[in-house]
Amino acid sequence: MSTTPPPRARLIDGKAIAKSLKHEVRGAIEAMVASGARRPGLAVVLVGNNPASEVYVRNKRRSCEEVGLISVAYDLPATASEAELLSLLRELNDEPSIDGILVQLPLPPHIRGRAVIEAIDPAKDVDGLHPYNLGRLAQREPLLRACTPYGVIKMLQHIGISPRGMEAVVVGASSIVGRPMALELLLAGATTTVCHTQTRNLEAQVGRAELLVVAIGRPQMVLGAWIRPGAVVIDIGIHRLPGGKLVGDIEFAAAAARAAWITPVPGGVGPMTIATLLNNTLEASTRRQALKSAG
Ligand code: GUN
Repeated sequence: MSTTPPPRARLIDGKAIAKSLKHEVRGAIEAMVASGARRPGLAVVLVGNNPASEVYVRNKRRSCEEVGLISVAYDLPATASEAELLSLLRELNDEPSIDGILVQLPLPPHIRGRAVIEAIDPAKDVDGLHPYNLGRLAQREPLLRACTPYGVIKMLQHIGISPRGMEAVVVGASSIVGRPMALELLLAGATTTVCHTQTRNLEAQVGRAELLVVAIGRPQMVLGAWIRPGAVVIDIGIHRLPGGKLVGDIEFAAAAARAAWITPVPGGVGPMTIATLLNNTLEASTRRQALKSAG
């Protein structure tokens, strides 16, 4: 007999929210092109053959087609040098028809991620990971915003939850997700705590959270019993268990028995990341084309 109590949480349907965001992006692109503007273009760069990255990149390229963005693929071998990649980025920075540049991470170990991110023109940094764009977010004047954290904010807006004044806890302090997530929540007015590998009592921190965002990259590490009853719970992890099942960083069924709202895995945050990338590319293109016509 199962001891897991029945779920009380409402599911945050990222797939459906992403679909409606993509629909908006598509409409905006068609309106923009109808008014004589150039169709936005996104360069998606993949280095090597990381199987998970190949899947993500394929999804990103397919989603571009769905919304009417031009996607240009650059697939470099795992043996490509850092200098070759940087030289490609310089070309893409100078290419007027390209509005966004996305280099899929992680990169092979001989290439410095930092050098690559910093080589992208901040105006084309649709991943929002360039220090300029992260700095703008830290200073409450965001321009291009990191896709996964911004996608989470859009998801919360969609279900009518404002982080303002909430006790928010982010578990995970990575540069791609945890840190920009904390900056987003701070901007949105939450009292924000960031937990990381040195945090002493993770369970106690998680238990305080009215809004919990977990991005630690370990399957089901946050136990359902830790969740504060009535919390809003966002799971950014995705892992395939040996049996083939996809799970997040949170023990889902037990967490869903306590939370008020929870994201499923899959079908939660993942689709929002891609929809936000498309939205960022539209924004970058709109801004670049406006600047160009302003002379
Ligand atoms: N790898 C995992 N997440 C991301 C992301 O948001 N952007 C890029 N470029 N690579 C990733």
